[in-house]
Amino acid sequence: MDKWVGKRVVVVSNRLPVVLRKNREEWVVDPGAGGLVTALSPVLRSQGGLWIGWTGCKEEIGSEKLRHILEPVSRRSGFQIIGVQLEELEIEGYYHGFSNSVLWPLFHDLETKCSFSPHFWELYLQVNHKFAKIVAENTRPEDLIWVNDYQLIPLAESFKKIGVKRQCAFFLHIPFPPPDVFMKLPWRVAIMEELQQYTFLCFQTHRDRKNFINSMKILYPSSHIEGRGMLVSLNTGIHQMKIGNLPASIDYKAFCDLSKRKKVVDRALKVRQAAGGRHLFLGVDRLDYTKGVPEKLRAFSRALEKYSTLQDKIMLLQVLVPSREGIYEYRSLREEIEELVRVVNRRFSTDIWTPITYQYTSVSQEELAALYHATDTALVTSLKDGMNLVCKEYCACHSSNGGSLILSEFAGAACQMRKGALLVNPYDVEGVADTIHYAVIMSLCERKSRMTILKNNLRKHDVYWWGEKFLLGALGDF
Ligand code: UDP
Ligand code: G6P
Repeated sequence: MDKWVGKRVVVVSNRLPVVLRKNREEWVVDPGAGGLVTALSPVLRSQGGLWIGWTGCKEEIGSEKLRHILEPVSRRSGFQIIGVQLEELEIEGYYHGFSNSVLWPLFHDLETKCSFSPHFWELYLQVNHKFAKIVAENTRPEDLIWVNDYQLIPLAESFKKIGVKRQCAFFLHIPFPPPDVFMKLPWRVAIMEELQQYTFLCFQTHRDRKNFINSMKILYPSSHIEGRGMLVSLNTGIHQMKIGNLPASIDYKAFCDLSKRKKVVDRALKVRQAAGGRHLFLGVDRLDYTKGVPEKLRAFSRALEKYSTLQDKIMLLQVLVPSREGIYEYRSLREEIEELVRVVNRRFSTDIWTPITYQYTSVSQEELAALYHATDTALVTSLKDGMNLVCKEYCACHSSNGGSLILSEFAGAACQMRKGALLVNPYDVEGVADTIHYAVIMSLCERKSRMTILKNNLRKHDVYWWGEKFLLGALGDF
């Protein structure tokens, strides 16, 4: 992707590509987890520019010290990193509270998991205000401010409140819910007003964009759409904004190259040898209730029960990446998953075979690439997902000679990958179990042709395509 001449791009997101952690007296810099970081890092590296976000820790670091810690990281990253520090109360109300106990569950259609606390809302606005001040201090009026995700919806409005003029475009990495779900939000009008402060608003899929427009039409009956295609204009009578949809993606070539490195190939071989010729299924998910991990385990168990020929012939490697451990829902989900793994393994294991291997840890990119490379089928059963980049990484790390993808129809990626993937409804245990069986007996020819379709699509619609289109949308036209 060519550099955008004359405009500095400033990415703002809650999560930086790194997380700071104090280990005794030393500060340690860990990589940040999640799809947002995977998508934005290569785009900003190719553009150059600035990334502003939360440090990820609750301990206060003096500003000189923080600059000192982040300077070498910036140098390595190819863009400058500026850390926002949050106090414990702010983390509680803004991050654990409004972002991840209101907007996250609601936008994933799980309104029963929401805690609609007015206190969370106040802190959400307060922290957005804090972000706006820091972004304003570190940017110029001619910069393009690329705001990312549900944690920072009020940022553009906060600039106005502090009298700062900036051009702001917004990308929502998570789904936008249908109106009957969105309307339950007590702050629905305020959120919609805040979204209208952006000149360009972009969603992952056409479905998300349609959901947003439908809610707008209910709350602002005179609003209407002008134009058609991937980029349209929404006119509310007061505001005019561009709205688009673009599927976030991965650095396809980088993952391909990584999967061919000797170290990765050797490690993949070891994983295969340990499996003793069995068909390997792989799950890689942040430990999040939207990922449908219990549903996946139940379906895997049902497949073993229904198709006894699969016993001792298949294995599931499930990686769960720790996430949002400060929230009760996430901690209790871990217990539920661990219990399910125990139950399935107790029921089916033999002296020489354990059906599910489970790891609760984050893994390096090399290890991830080796797992993608080594396994026969990726199993993605999200109950709802903005996009899901794991399934894209899996395809990038596989040769077209093998590998298949079972993908939830409720992941944004399904819109793009429906032709090559085996789509499933994760709530349908029987259906997923049948698909698991089908993935094992599928002919080599079908597998190759499906993987070829998937790879061709991803090669063309990689993260640079996504980033370039977004910037074109923000600064002009697609
Ligand atoms: N990932 C990670 N740490 C890990 C394992 C995976 O950061 O230990 C990455 C993975 O490579 C992928 C991202 O986390 O790029 C997950 O993105 P996805 O869109 O699938 O889901 P999200 O976690 O954003 O909901
Ligand atoms: C999803 C969200 C991101 C978030 C990531 C990891 O990808 O869209 O905004 O950064 O999950 O979650 P965390 O709460 O650790 O940032």
